[in-house]
Amino acid sequence: MLRHAPGSVRDSIVEFLSTTESASLHEIHHAVGARLGTVAASSVRSYLNLNVPDLFERVGRGSYRLAGRADDHLVAPQPPSARHGLATLHHADCFEWLRAQPSRSIQAVVTDPPYGLVEYTSKEQGKLRDGRGGIWRIPPSYDGHQRSPLPRFTVLTEDDRAVLRLFFLDFGRMLARVVVPGANVVVASNPLLAHVVASAMSEAGLEMRGYVTRLVMTMRGGDRPKNAHGEFPDVSVLPRSMSEPWVVLRTPLEGRVQDNLRRWRTGGFRRPSVERPFGDVIRSHPTPVTEKRIAPHPSLKPQGFLRQIVRAVLPMGEGMVLDPFAGSGSTLAAANAVGYNSIGVEKDPAYVDLANRSIPLLEKVPVRDGDLG
Ligand SMILES: C[S@@+](CC[C@H](N)C(=O)[O-])C[C@H]1O[C@@H](n2cnc3c(N)ncnc32)[C@H](O)[C@@H]1O
Repeated sequence: MLRHAPGSVRDSIVEFLSTTESASLHEIHHAVGARLGTVAASSVRSYLNLNVPDLFERVGRGSYRLAGRADDHLVAPQPPSARHGLATLHHADCFEWLRAQPSRSIQAVVTDPPYGLVEYTSKEQGKLRDGRGGIWRIPPSYDGHQRSPLPRFTVLTEDDRAVLRLFFLDFGRMLARVVVPGANVVVASNPLLAHVVASAMSEAGLEMRGYVTRLVMTMRGGDRPKNAHGEFPDVSVLPRSMSEPWVVLRTPLEGRVQDNLRRWRTGGFRRPSVERPFGDVIRSHPTPVTEKRIAPHPSLKPQGFLRQIVRAVLPMGEGMVLDPFAGSGSTLAAANAVGYNSIGVEKDPAYVDLANRSIPLLEKVPVRDGDLG
């Protein structure tokens, strides 16, 4: 028996099939599971068959696609949006938003997605806002400073990781359609999950180009054996994190690099100066308190780092940068600071309000010496 809201299985199937030409029952079943939790494969098959030929078409054995792929049901109403200089922020679910975008309309993506998948649900955000924790570990204050809450990625199970993989597979497929050839897609990650992002998004059709390492010494303790510090004083359980990997992908080029640079304004990174290449290690620091006061978002990234990444992703300094998980709007603020057009999408109304207040302030914060190298 299905325990899901009426229409949710059908909507999930439509949402998934709109990202791809066609898919097997197995792929569709996984994609629906990633959105709704456990759903029996037989139920997904029934939904598909019940809606052939009105909504779905059968293409070959066990594969389906949307009937008349460019139909009305793919066109979402325009979401509410706000302009801040060169930036536009939309209040929407980015999957819905991406589905409604024209193909080949974005030149670069810089984003910091949710990782636990549940940490940005209303339930977990409610617990965080009430100081109750949940998936968010609220660290004790240190030297009189209140430290930011951190999601507990180490609690992810094998199943959670499988769901995460499908989330990034889906996300990669959606992005691959809306970005132009040769577009850079740079995704914030962490040492425990970067490989999942890299492999799922490569499977979605993006090319893996490496990692940019943000060198950052965070105050994340807990590297010692739990409840056995004294007995094993020389042991670190994990390499103590001093860096944050940002996964770098690119949509396949059309022709040579120079052809893409001319036609699409993509195909490389903008150098910090004519003499200096864009490097894959960026010295950074925890997000400064001044920025956190402006934008108290639990995952706020610092302007000093973001401005370097955002500036680099458009090799000619021309085009549109997208952040589909905009949070406090820090990527959009960085884009304004370096003079680029940008679009952000955020689904939580509280963070949309925060971003609308924060972007005009964050874009003006001075960054430390060397931050723009
Ligand atoms: C890791 S945070 C990004 C924080 C951002 N880097 C900053 O500096 O403020 C991820 C954000 O994505 C939002 N989000 C999660 N799922 C989303 C979706 N499907 N569409 C749009 N936003 C989403 C969350 O509400 C959260 O604000």
